[in-house]
Amino acid sequence: MPVPELDERARSCARRLLDSDRVLLASHIDADGLTSAAIASQALERAGLDHEVVFKNQLDETEIASIAAREFETVLFTDFGSGQLDDISRHEQAGDFVPIIADHHQPADAETEYHLNPLLEGLDGASELSGAGASYLLARALAEEADQEEDNRDLAALAVVGAVGDMQAVDGELVGANRALVEEGTEAGVLEEKQDIAIYGKQTRPLPKLLEYATDVRIPGITNNEPGAVSFLEELSVDLKTPDGDGEWRRWVDLNDDEKQTVVSALLQRALERGVPPGKAERLVGTTYTLTDEQPGTSLRDASEFSTLLNATARYERADVGLAVCLGDREEAFEQARRLLETHRRNLSEGLEQVKEQGVETVGNLQYFDAGDDIRETIVGIVAGMALGVDGVDGSSPIIAFARKNEEELKVSARGTGRLVGQGLDLSAVMGEASRAVGGDGGGHDIAAGATIPDDKKEEFVDRADDLIATQVG
Ligand code: C5P
Ligand code: C5P
Ligand code: ZN
Repeated sequence: MPVPELDERARSCARRLLDSDRVLLASHIDADGLTSAAIASQALERAGLDHEVVFKNQLDETEIASIAAREFETVLFTDFGSGQLDDISRHEQAGDFVPIIADHHQPADAETEYHLNPLLEGLDGASELSGAGASYLLARALAEEADQEEDNRDLAALAVVGAVGDMQAVDGELVGANRALVEEGTEAGVLEEKQDIAIYGKQTRPLPKLLEYATDVRIPGITNNEPGAVSFLEELSVDLKTPDGDGEWRRWVDLNDDEKQTVVSALLQRALERGVPPGKAERLVGTTYTLTDEQPGTSLRDASEFSTLLNATARYERADVGLAVCLGDREEAFEQARRLLETHRRNLSEGLEQVKEQGVETVGNLQYFDAGDDIRETIVGIVAGMALGVDGVDGSSPIIAFARKNEEELKVSARGTGRLVGQGLDLSAVMGEASRAVGGDGGGHDIAAGATIPDDKKEEFVDRADDLIATQVG
């Protein structure tokens, strides 16, 4: 089994599932939650277990009660559940359902028997295993305990999409328990890990757009500069248009290895010439994960593009579309997901622009912005993460974003950096404690967390969060 530390927990969860008649599978509405559900659902089906799938934006008392009201004997929570264990175990004790949890969020205090979470065995839940990874370990254990012919290793590709979607790759590369998943996926022939240009959109973006939109490493004269990107490419001895003469740009996937090498070398050279520090320019090349069973030139072929496509469905109340794509629909659902992706991309770039324009408030040890109704609460965390480190928003203190959730409540999203976490930052504790102090609730990971609070408690919440951050990193 791939991750020995979690083997016993995975097997005990699997055995309990195999004793169930009917399972309700509940999962989170993001890329990791969707891939978690897709992995678990396929594993249950292969093990012959009857089940239904539901998605939730955030688990809270009300949502857990609505799950209990479905009267399933067993409820499998994936990519959430650990942080809400207090509420969940109350239902367990009342005999409402038996919970089985495959998650990677910071657990609440209560305990439960069937709980698969890397943090319980000293593994990091923000970088070593995602919800999809935990679900994958459960799927592997289910196959073994059920004595199935299929070992479920083909599901490792989705687990990698989930981990990449949760930003678990450290400097572009998956580490820790995630490595075991990459290896199994590679052996099963569904994954390929290689060094390549580390820019989002290798499968689907026309070459000039690929370079123009790459903002991680900013290259003066190319980044956000369409004519600059085009003339940079035109100077290279590489055909830039497709051979059929219809005037269409080639994409990165259309280049052969020599051509790719030519572009990468020239790009590195240009970056250095224009004053990008070598340590930063290096980041133009990195580890990429390819789903080898998918059609080249589609967003599904690249783990990073796949995960963005999934966020574009689930965070817009269309988790059903993303799940169908994960389960293999390459027609109607895939088409619809691609349309949703256009909207998602536009919302992200408009959201980021707005944060840059509006600027952030600095209070002691944190910085924050309030997006009000302008950024959807389901994507405000992604925008906050993108904003950290861009012009005008420095990365030396954590960022907190507010957005309206409903008439009475605000959604809060917090993002930090690896360096701040190294200094002691734990945003999961900050969001949990500060929100509960003002009558809300929250949790997550050390580097990224969130909360819901009453809408008249923003200032008090900011003050409390500031105090907590001061004691952590001060
Ligand atoms: O709910 P869940 O665990 O799936 O979400 C994790 C969130 O944390 C994602 O939005 C991801 O972008 C963020 N994250 C981050 N940086 C990391 C790890 C996670 O921003 N290093
Ligand atoms: O929503 P956002 O992307 O900011 O969430 C960041 C992390 O915090 C995710 O892992 C999410 O599951 C977690 N979170 C939480 N409780 C909340 C809000 C977010 O555990 N109320
Ligand atoms: Zn997750």
